[in-house]
Amino acid sequence: MKLTIFGTGYVGLVTGACLAEVGHDVLCVDVDEAKIAGLQQGEIPIYEPGLDVLVQRNHKLGRLDFTTDVRRGVEYATVQFIAVGTPPDEDGSADLQYLLTVAREIGRYMTGNRLVIDKSTVPVGTADKVRAAISAQLAERGLELPFDVVSNPEFLKEGAAIDDFMKPDRIVVGTENEQSRALMKKLYAPFNRSSDRMVYMDLRSAELTKYAANAMLATKISFMNEMANLAERLGADIEQVRRGIGSDPRIGYHFIYPGCGYGGSCFPKDVQALERTASEVGYDAPLLQAVERVNRKQKQKLYQRIEQYFAGDLAGKTFALWGLAFKPKTDDMREAPSRTLMEALWDAGACVRAYDPEAMEEARRIYGERDSLVLCSSAQEALSAADGLVICTEWSEFRAPDFRVILDRLSVPVIFDGRNLYDPELLSEQGIDYIAIGRSNWS
Ligand code: UGA
Repeated sequence: MKLTIFGTGYVGLVTGACLAEVGHDVLCVDVDEAKIAGLQQGEIPIYEPGLDVLVQRNHKLGRLDFTTDVRRGVEYATVQFIAVGTPPDEDGSADLQYLLTVAREIGRYMTGNRLVIDKSTVPVGTADKVRAAISAQLAERGLELPFDVVSNPEFLKEGAAIDDFMKPDRIVVGTENEQSRALMKKLYAPFNRSSDRMVYMDLRSAELTKYAANAMLATKISFMNEMANLAERLGADIEQVRRGIGSDPRIGYHFIYPGCGYGGSCFPKDVQALERTASEVGYDAPLLQAVERVNRKQKQKLYQRIEQYFAGDLAGKTFALWGLAFKPKTDDMREAPSRTLMEALWDAGACVRAYDPEAMEEARRIYGERDSLVLCSSAQEALSAADGLVICTEWSEFRAPDFRVILDRLSVPVIFDGRNLYDPELLSEQGIDYIAIGRSNWS
């Protein structure tokens, strides 16, 4: 099948590459000329394991192409994916301007029937707005062409996006149109062979499913962080509690890791957007508000522990920081807990020596050159003469460090661990103060 995808961000590019990989002919459209020129040369604008190989191979085979020519994109295929960004507005609601611009362009240039697929994460009711935008353009052109709008949210995790797309848990399709369902089934057939992953529903339910999934996952994390805070005060160990509750299959072991707060481009934005949607329909969604509030506080947690440890005397101190990305296997620092921490340390007059296996360039892009941030080329180098080590991301290379080297290099033998990577007893034996999340204070 021939497919057009608008938006070569995270979702659009992964979707395009994976759909080309199974044999579809895909044209990706983006207004960013530099990005498109780079993609034509096989340059991938984001770090995602396996994506470069997929893009380069399919581009070479002629199944995946890139253009800034919107009209060509609309004319190219019957099936049109919209995968552009929906960044938060100032009030937390999703900004639909890019999405509705694409909808208008489709209405402006379409010549025959079109299936328009909303892949971006969009508030409930957006498909109706997309439909109205296309209809308005057609009316202006004095045309009546058949089209349908379908909601097909994505559930990719950064760092595992290719695998998630190739082996989906479910493929949610929101439409009540039989023909559209059949087309979606054909389109996704290659991903649907071992068992039927298609979940059909009405449009609004599909739109809400995406938010409900992310809000549920965010709730699990905030819940565990709340339990961790309670465990600290009660002299309990959240890691033991985690194993204890995870063994109940109704709860499960997944996504119950306490930490220094959730980040990324999805959970913070989507929880807020859902709160906003709720308030628009007169519901104040107290649980969603709490999930967000707990997370905001949790992101300040590492800083508070550091401040407490040094009795507020942080001016002139230097901290080693391991992990800048909001989670492992990505260079994405959007809403990353490391940022909240660094900014608080700088405000208090401290400096940071940071290392991340992938996000160094991103940190340089965000913060530029500054005396208070030294970007180091290895985890060990970051430790030199630092007044403690802080861990924000659980990259596997941080999991089994040589603690003697840490002891040797740090001026103050203390680790503030936002991801509970180590055995507190072991560190205590090594003579390292270990301050983790929701654990007894081993100092
Ligand atoms: C999330 C969802 O997991 C995907 O299913 C969804 O498709 C995606 O958002 C999206 O809407 O596009 P992602 O943001 O890539 O994916 O990352 P996650 O792996 O979910 O992690 C999010 C944050 O939660 C990270 O900061 C991570 O450290 C934190 N987390 C995760 C915890 O603190 N504890 C856990 O147990 C799990």
